[in-house]
Amino acid sequence: MRVPNAGTVLKAQGLVKKFAQLLAVDQVSLEVSKGECFALLGPNGAGKTTTCEMLEGLTSPDTGDIEICGLKFPKQRGDILKLIGVALQETNLYKKYTVKETLELFSSFYPKTLSIPGLVAKLKLEDKLDTRLEHLSGGQKQRVYLGCALVHNPDLLFLDEPTSGLDPQARRYLWELLREVKADGRSIFLTTHYMEEAQELADRIAIMDHGKIIAMGTLQELVSTHCQGDFLEFQCAESELESLQNSLSWLKTAKKLPTGEGFEVNVDNATTKTREFMREVDALGVNLGHFSIRQSTLEDVFLKLTGRNIRDD
Ligand SMILES: Nc1ncnc2c1ncn2[C@@H]1O[C@H](COP(=O)(O)OP(=O)(O)OP(=O)(O)O)[C@@H](O)[C@H]1O
Ligand SMILES: [Mg+2]
Repeated sequence: MRVPNAGTVLKAQGLVKKFAQLLAVDQVSLEVSKGECFALLGPNGAGKTTTCEMLEGLTSPDTGDIEICGLKFPKQRGDILKLIGVALQETNLYKKYTVKETLELFSSFYPKTLSIPGLVAKLKLEDKLDTRLEHLSGGQKQRVYLGCALVHNPDLLFLDEPTSGLDPQARRYLWELLREVKADGRSIFLTTHYMEEAQELADRIAIMDHGKIIAMGTLQELVSTHCQGDFLEFQCAESELESLQNSLSWLKTAKKLPTGEGFEVNVDNATTKTREFMREVDALGVNLGHFSIRQSTLEDVFLKLTGRNIRDD
C-alpha cells in the first residue's frame, strides 16, 4: 500500500500535448509516491502513451511541468534517465539476439547495473538464456523487456500496457513479477486498458478518457465516490421482470447484462433489496434461473462516468 509521506518520485502539473488539431493530453496533473504503483487506465486513444512518453522525457509537453525525484526536464534529463526504467508499448528489439545478449546489450548502456544472472532468475528466464527473442512466447518477451527496463536498477519504472495481448495465464505471471519488483521498493507507473490489471496491481488509479483524467484515487475511493452500492444480478424472462417491476419500483433501473444472460440492478442496500426481491419472486411464482450479489467494480465506475464500456472489442 501507499506509504504516507514517503516522498514524491514523480510530479506532473498541467501537461498538455496537441497533435495538429487533436488535444491528445489535456491538463493532466498527477503524483506518484515512493514505492507506489500508479495506474493510468483508459480506452484506446485516451492519451495514455502520449502522457507516458512525456513523463519519460521522450517527447516534450506543449505546456506543463514534470519533476522526477526533484529533477526537471529538459535540463536534468541525463540524471533523470539514470533513475527511470522504461518499457515501451511497441518494442521491437533485435529478434535474432538471445535473451542473454539482449540483456547484456542494455547493460552496456549504463555504468552501474544489476547482475544478469540475478535479473534472469528474478524474471524466471533461466532456461531461456540462449533462446533468440523470435522464439519466445509473448509473455516471455514481455519479461525480457521488463528486464531491459530494470537492468540499471531504476527507482521508477514506466510500463506502457505491459500485458497487452497476453493470455490470462501469462498476464497473471507478469503481475506476480511486478508485485516482486514493487516489493523491492521501486515505484511503478503503468498504463493499461485492463480494469483487472489496475485493480490487481495499483495502489492508486487515474481514469483517462479523451486526454483528460476524469477520476483518480484508490479503488475503494473510486468505487465509493462514483458507484455506490452493490449489484443484484438475476436471470428470468423479460415478462417476469416487468411483473416484478410493477411491485418493486427500484427494479425499473435494471439493465440487460452485456452477455444477454439476465439482468443487473444497482442497489443501495443489497440485503434489504434481496429480501424484497425474493418475496416478490415467491409471490409471483417467477422462474428464477440465477441470482447473485456483486460489488461495484472499476468497470461500473467507467460506465458511470463515460456512459460506455472501456473495451469495445
Ligand atoms: N505522433 C502522433 N501524431 C498524431 N496523433 C497522434 C500521435 N500520437 C498519438 N496520436 C493521437 O493521440 C491520441 C492519443 O494517443 P495515445 O497513443 O496516447 O493513446 P493511448 O491511450 O495510448 O491508446 P492505446 O490504448 O491504443 O495505446 C490518439 O487519438 C492518437 O491517434
Ligand atoms: Mg498506448
